[in-house]
Amino acid sequence: MTGTRPATRIVELPPPWMREHMHEVLAIYGLAMGYDSGIVAGRYGYAIQHTERPGFRAVGAFAQTTAGERLVGFGYGYLVAPGQWWHDQVRAALDRRTAKKWLPGAFEVCELHVLPDHQSQGLGRQLLHALVEVPHPVALLSTPDTDTKAFRLYQADGFVDLARNYHFPGDSRPFAILGARLPLHPRDGSPANPRA
Ligand SMILES: CC(C)(COP(=O)(O)OP(=O)(O)OC[C@H]1O[C@@H](n2cnc3c(N)ncnc32)[C@H](O)[C@@H]1OP(=O)(O)O)[C@@H](O)C(=O)NCCC(=O)NCCS
Repeated sequence: MTGTRPATRIVELPPPWMREHMHEVLAIYGLAMGYDSGIVAGRYGYAIQHTERPGFRAVGAFAQTTAGERLVGFGYGYLVAPGQWWHDQVRAALDRRTAKKWLPGAFEVCELHVLPDHQSQGLGRQLLHALVEVPHPVALLSTPDTDTKAFRLYQADGFVDLARNYHFPGDSRPFAILGARLPLHPRDGSPANPRA
């Protein structure tokens, strides 16, 4: 793996900035996930609502390009709470003891995406670590239950299985639900994390 390109910076993105730039942010989501424009457009309203949730935090990676500085990756999350769709799905997926141990006060890593031509250069890991610099005991997320870059990153950096092969309503793909105690410590002590 090569190093991060020069002049890339990771910064916090305040909620008003996210709302103002949500189309640009979601374009990265669409390209990273390979989703068509209909799926991306359908995400807009939810993503705007997410920026208003308690504990919302977003981070972005800006790279120097010939056209100037450009957002090439982002992540965001918020505090989970009963009544939120994802929280209630996860609570149903976990046994009572696991749910009680992991859900209260958890920070959900809701989105983490890097543009395809900027992937595998350390940005995703930097974004993940910057994102979970939060005063909460654990981070939770769900990711397609298959061997992806995302799954490898989460496993390498301390996320453990809470549930596997879980089917969210309306999505035919199996998902893994993963959790990590915070602060996050990469297992491999990768230099991509400046605090490792
Ligand atoms: C997942 C994602 C955010 C990771 O960001 P990234 O910048 O590509 O990843 P990094 O370069 O920081 O690498 C972090 C880890 O990811 C995994 N990874 C990255 N590139 C990889 C590749 N080409 N092959 C296998 N694993 C890879 C490795 O575990 C790597 O750790 P290592 O360098 O110690 O081996 C990014 O690849 C992405 O946007 N993927 C598509 C969207 C997606 O799946 N988002 C997550 C949804 S849950």
